Amino acid sequence: MLPKRGVASAPLKGRRVLVRVDFNVPLDDRGGIADDRRILEAIPTLDLLRTHGAKTIVLAHLGRPGGRRDPKLSLRPVARRLSSALGTPVPLADEPVGVRALDLAARLENGQFMMLENLRFLPGEETNDPGLAAQLARLGELFVEDAFGAVHRAHASTVGVAQRLPSFAGLLVERELRELSRLTDRPAVPYSVVVGGGKVADKLPLLASLLGRASTVLIGGAIAYPFLTAAGTRLGATPVASGLDDAVREITAGARAAGTELLLPSDLVYERPGEAEPGIAASGNVPPEAVAGDIGPDTQRAFRAALERSATVFWNGPLGRFELPRFAGGTRAVFSGLEGRPGVRIAAGGDSARAAYALGLAGAFGFISTGGGAALEFVEGRELPGLAVLPDA
Ligand code: 3PG
Repeated sequence: MLPKRGVASAPLKGRRVLVRVDFNVPLDDRGGIADDRRILEAIPTLDLLRTHGAKTIVLAHLGRPGGRRDPKLSLRPVARRLSSALGTPVPLADEPVGVRALDLAARLENGQFMMLENLRFLPGEETNDPGLAAQLARLGELFVEDAFGAVHRAHASTVGVAQRLPSFAGLLVERELRELSRLTDRPAVPYSVVVGGGKVADKLPLLASLLGRASTVLIGGAIAYPFLTAAGTRLGATPVASGLDDAVREITAGARAAGTELLLPSDLVYERPGEAEPGIAASGNVPPEAVAGDIGPDTQRAFRAALERSATVFWNGPLGRFELPRFAGGTRAVFSGLEGRPGVRIAAGGDSARAAYALGLAGAFGFISTGGGAALEFVEGRELPGLAVLPDA
């Protein structure tokens, strides 16, 4: 993909700048921020705007309130966290648009910030309503897109505003494009992709897009199960996503035809009701009442060996139920071997990022994307509306 016109070339001084960020952070039981990485990743762009004397209006969403105000999804805690990260007040306009937002925007001085309340409280956000986009655009003079994680959404605050104001890519978006392009733009070979996690049907388009492009695709986690059962392997009482037989057979045949090697787990770690210790069995020998939860040691060795000879590695989705210590071993063993090795190593997706940090694997990756769906669609080669709308550099 061609680079986009970047914020460094924008005439910022004294201008009111709308900056879209992805502050869709996980919340804990008490409504606090469980992981502030997405907030911290936006700081370089916000700092640049401050240093260059912009009057910055931050646009963001949180969760999926479906066009209605939901106090549990207020951006207030996020604005507080942002304010402490920037070391300056970030007042929150409690209506996403309206008199208070206009008033706060009019009073901004060079280098100051304000933030709008969760844009998804408004029904027009997700439908990219032209009226809402125009209202938002009236608040600013320029638009900076730094919400890489939301560029696959054609919403009022991603596409609508960008169509109405001179628009620029933020530093995080530029970095994501630079890094993820190493996977799409003639990746160094051998190119291996590890796909795991639970949302099986969602991952099939990614797998299909990799045939002929990746040298090896290593499949673990719940997504491996329909591949194993379609090949006749019984998995005891392990839940297997149904209705996918044709799709997985097509991918398997497509891989053979395209010369992409598919690696599936040859053994699994399972648990049996009433037994404290997990067991290990060849994939076809999981006992009838047992439920698989991780890849076994032979699979770990095979996956590690494949990754160690790869020049490019892309990881999306844990290889087991890593939140449970008894099922975290596979993901840990496969990726810990990559630390310090040369080559392109990129992870994407909320669960992968969480697993990477929780299992101490972040050092194995040169880049961990802030995007979930957006990163996957990018790697699949799909057009992302929030990027397509930005002018090329
Ligand atoms: C994400 O968390 O991946 C982005 O913020 C997009 O959120 P959405 O899937 O609710 O549109």
